[in-house]
Amino acid sequence: MYRTPLGTVTGSRRWTTVVTLVTAGSLAGSIAVAHRSPAIERGGRDQTFSNPAGVHRTITAAGTLDRGNPFFLELGSNGRSCFTCHRPAQAWSVTPAELRERFDTTAGLDPIFRANDGSNCAGADLSTMNKRREAFTLLLTRGLIRVDLEVPKNAEFDVIDVDEPYGCGSPLTTVSMYRRPLPTTNLGFLSAVMWDGRQTAPGMSIRDDLLVQARDAVVEHAEGTPPSAVQLGAIVDFELGVFTAQERDHRAGNLAGAAVRGGPEALARQPFCIGINDPLGMLPAVGGACLGRTTSFDPRAFTLFAAWTDAESPERRSIARGEAIFNTRQFAITNVAGLNGGTTDPVAGPIATGSCTICHDTPNSGNHSVAMALNIGITTATRRTLDLPLYTLRNRTTGEIVQTTDPGRAMVTGKWGDISKFKGPILRGLAARAPFFHDGSAATLEEVIQFYDTRFEIKFTEQEKADLLAFLRAL
Ligand code: HEC
Ligand code: HEC
Repeated sequence: MYRTPLGTVTGSRRWTTVVTLVTAGSLAGSIAVAHRSPAIERGGRDQTFSNPAGVHRTITAAGTLDRGNPFFLELGSNGRSCFTCHRPAQAWSVTPAELRERFDTTAGLDPIFRANDGSNCAGADLSTMNKRREAFTLLLTRGLIRVDLEVPKNAEFDVIDVDEPYGCGSPLTTVSMYRRPLPTTNLGFLSAVMWDGRQTAPGMSIRDDLLVQARDAVVEHAEGTPPSAVQLGAIVDFELGVFTAQERDHRAGNLAGAAVRGGPEALARQPFCIGINDPLGMLPAVGGACLGRTTSFDPRAFTLFAAWTDAESPERRSIARGEAIFNTRQFAITNVAGLNGGTTDPVAGPIATGSCTICHDTPNSGNHSVAMALNIGITTATRRTLDLPLYTLRNRTTGEIVQTTDPGRAMVTGKWGDISKFKGPILRGLAARAPFFHDGSAATLEEVIQFYDTRFEIKFTEQEKADLLAFLRAL
């Protein structure tokens, strides 16, 4: 049976929206409002925000954003709520630009600036404004939160060295990983929770995973005691009813108009079940999976803008071409641990060629529709910038050495073959939440495209790059 992202909300639900149609006049108004809004943004009924490419909007199952939901409440001891790091104005992540503004308006005292996981080092000295500015450089430049995990007891490797720029002095049994807050929107499309899937337990439904995730978020990020089951249920029901997408593009206009299907409302109606459209036909036995259905892979995972193929507007035609490139432009998929038949890979033989949708296969959402972490090469020593640590891992059996800025899924499973594997994330609301990849290493969508062009030797033409960019900005 299909699990719809609406959870218990039925399809007949009316989406209450204040700005249903952003006309030219009201568009100017909403941009002005968004720019005027203070750093600690209060939001309101109108969840429409400007971003560098246009306007994105959030709709909720309840119709309005319920600020009384425990998602917005300080449930811990350090002043933080989920909203501290997950903001509708930034497509439910946070951006470095907004964080710098927050730092300046609060002299670095906003609750996101805490030493438990906001600072480069655990327990950093925050006694003066200058010390605070120094302590939070990764948060202020890349929007990264520190995730500290112990090397699993039965790991197939040891961490034998770290080249670490901040002198944190942590023992080699703990690894500090610096990661972008994943958006808490469109979560009904998830097949794995967290970049490394560590909150996805085998056989459990995503809803159950999210309950555990919310509890841990209160305990860890907010330094609190576990909230009640009622509060956790309310948070997760809220999260599963939130949808966000770009709704208007500065150049192409309304993305949710008659012929096309951009914007959050069409997204909220998009059917989903875990394993849908999976190129490998994997159908995991978990709640919410497409059990009993044969799903065949259609590379055309995105079908939002095809109607603009022959549009009069050149900007609209460019978005349509970008969608087609994302869906069908073939390139060689080489050296992707997870897809190329390694010992811990679920796939026996290598996948030789494919398009972006070989990994971003969930229809119109773009995440990987099954929980299958992959190493696409974000963390290699050659890409490392000096503001990130570089860890050296040694295989306990073979003595083999690997260097990485983030061991990824291997810190969850302990498996050598899982080093630097991450999930393929949801690709909606992108324009509002740069930088990209788990470590914020791509400052812009142009840099994302450049990464893939180099990594997979795709040889995109300049026109193809421009079209792909126009498409990604319209999501
Ligand atoms: C201090 C910042 C911070 C706070 C506060 C915070 N989060 Fe997060 N959140 C993150 C980061 C960083 C990640 C990604 C970490 C990773 O994957 O390793 C994340 C990931 C998530 C995800 C995973 C989404 C996905 O696509 O897998 C969910 C769900 C989530 N947070 C919900 C919450 C909830 C609920 C709360 C409040 C109880 C909360 N967060 C509080 C920073 C924060
Ligand atoms: C082999 C699998 C694979 C292919 C092919 C692939 N991706 Fe990805 N993509 C991923 C994974 C895995 C991540 C997360 C990587 C990370 O952050 O460590 C990702 C991340 C992204 C992100 C960043 C999202 C965010 O929230 O930060 C964008 C944008 C993206 N991919 C676009 C594309 C485009 C465009 C193409 C085609 C040119 C493409 N991808 C091809 C697996 C893939």
